[in-house]
Amino acid sequence: MQGIETKIFNQPFKVTEGWYWLLPSKSVKRGKAQAVNLMGRELVVYRGQNDIAVVLSAYCPHMGAHLAEGKVESNQIRCFFHNWRFDAKGNCTDIPCLSKLPSKNISLKTWHVVERYQMIWLWVGVSSPTHDIPELPELAGQKMVSALGNRFIKQCHPNVVMVNAIDEQHFHTVHKLPGSILKMEPEMIDQYNIRFSNSGRLQKNTRISRLLSRFYQGPLTYTLSYWYGHLGFVTFGPDFLRLNLMFALRQTREGKTEGQTIVFTRHRKGIMGYLANAFILFLTKLGGRYFAIGDTRVFQTIQFDFKTPITADRAVIFFIKHLEQQRVVNWHGRESKKIESEVV
Ligand code: FES
Ligand SMILES: [Fe+2]
Repeated sequence: MQGIETKIFNQPFKVTEGWYWLLPSKSVKRGKAQAVNLMGRELVVYRGQNDIAVVLSAYCPHMGAHLAEGKVESNQIRCFFHNWRFDAKGNCTDIPCLSKLPSKNISLKTWHVVERYQMIWLWVGVSSPTHDIPELPELAGQKMVSALGNRFIKQCHPNVVMVNAIDEQHFHTVHKLPGSILKMEPEMIDQYNIRFSNSGRLQKNTRISRLLSRFYQGPLTYTLSYWYGHLGFVTFGPDFLRLNLMFALRQTREGKTEGQTIVFTRHRKGIMGYLANAFILFLTKLGGRYFAIGDTRVFQTIQFDFKTPITADRAVIFFIKHLEQQRVVNWHGRESKKIESEVV
């Protein structure tokens, strides 16, 4: 069988269109600005007095000072260096040494921002957002609670980390699942979203599978909803308690992986509900951590090169093909640096 060559999958610095996590919401306080590097591009995030988070290009269009050094004023940000001020749309609204702003618009690039799941998300796209932040299919339309799990770095591309959760073979070798209880069935939802669900049945031929079969009517629950090659929702656990988590990945400036897990459960009311929610979220974090730890050493050293795909890699191949059809954004392209002669 031939190896698989790709133009998007596992290509460092190729950025696919979609929503990207930026920072936990609580880390950007009202009236404060913060620097953040998203996949090699420097940005500033600030939260105005209206509590809305704003993301702008980091460097001031006057002389390039980093705006995170500046000060938030009402719902705008003022550069530390010569005190030019910019609004949430990135437009310059004040230059203290000029009585009137130049007629030519001076502005900074800004992005669509949404806060969801206790996280600030940014739309990185060729055009405006084509859809809302992805939702967990298991709890779609239901009230739910979420909590941030762990943040991690892996020494490989995010697409390679994504592949791990649909790599059937390694669940038996690395995570010691018995027999052939995983058979991932892919389903393409749309251009951005692909789902995998397990159809493998438990064969009651070992002690562990006999024990597991008490908790599952049908196949062992394991479903994934993958977006853009860097976001993945996972649902797992016995029939009486489905656990849900998301791994939100993005490239580091070196093209490796920076990730954050987010755990979810449906909202339960009252004090007992609150305690149950907290306990289930805690359990989900533990489950997620177990699977993340098992693969750590592989991600430290792997040079992913899919030279010999076999039938058992079917889900991985499907994912790669889906990803190869996604839109690539010119994320690292430089913004124009022309001199505004009117200002000189
Ligand atoms: S560099 Fe920002 S105002 Fe001059
Ligand atoms: Fe794994």
